[in-house]
Amino acid sequence: MSFSMNQYWESADCLRSRLSGFQPEALMILGSGLGFLADELEHPVSVPYGDIPHFKPSTAPGHKGQLVFGRLEGKDVAVMQGRMHFYEGYSLQEVTYAVRVLRLLGAEKLIVTNAAGCVNREWSAGSLMLITDHIKLCLESPLRGENLPAFGPRFPDASTIYTPEYQVLARNAAQSLDIPLKEGIYMFFPGPQYETPAEIRAARILGADAVGMSTVPEAIAARHCGMKVLGLSLLTNMAAGILSQPLSEEDVLDAAAKASRQFSLLVRNCLAQM
Ligand code: HPA
Repeated sequence: MSFSMNQYWESADCLRSRLSGFQPEALMILGSGLGFLADELEHPVSVPYGDIPHFKPSTAPGHKGQLVFGRLEGKDVAVMQGRMHFYEGYSLQEVTYAVRVLRLLGAEKLIVTNAAGCVNREWSAGSLMLITDHIKLCLESPLRGENLPAFGPRFPDASTIYTPEYQVLARNAAQSLDIPLKEGIYMFFPGPQYETPAEIRAARILGADAVGMSTVPEAIAARHCGMKVLGLSLLTNMAAGILSQPLSEEDVLDAAAKASRQFSLLVRNCLAQM
């Protein structure tokens, strides 16, 4: 399913009519463990996805379905409280719909975070990772189908999806907060099943440090329409086959909750400096 320019504008106009002049400069799409940041916005205005034309509900556990607008760290932001995933059955155009709508509302920055499996054997669960690049072998792309040139070119450059200047900023933020921050390559798997041990071995050979089921579509769509992107992963578990225990969603959510305070400090500090 792809959308027309008219549809994106209908959603943007609907939001504009509820925001009385508020213009978000950054969009934050927060993965498991960080959704609470939306509750920390000053002067929040929440708009349920169901009130916005063409928006889809998020069905993932722990993900509320609303956009929250407000001020955080001195910046006017929009937070997606609940993101859409490919595994929920949405097309990647649907998954990334909000990114383009927020771009039409004037947002030029994206902070995107996730819970991910740790592929790098030298690291441990609980680590935070700056995403420096990604691998996506899944054939779908949010840009497949008719190109809308108002957003960006048919064949966009992908050599700096994760904005180098934001990577510097995140390294500095981590250092000043004394939070250890790994950096590496995030590999997208469509899910919803976790990866097999053989897939994780393959991912490692290909150069991945982390694996997960989100973030890459949003980052591609954001970069396509000229936004700057910061991507951060919370490595909630060692990826399949590294430890002799099965992966469970419960363990992932527990680990995400444990690291959430540190993670939110880092994200807030990055936002403050953007
Ligand atoms: N694989 C994929 N997605 C994930 C994982 C994982 O190991 N952990 C958290 N999200």
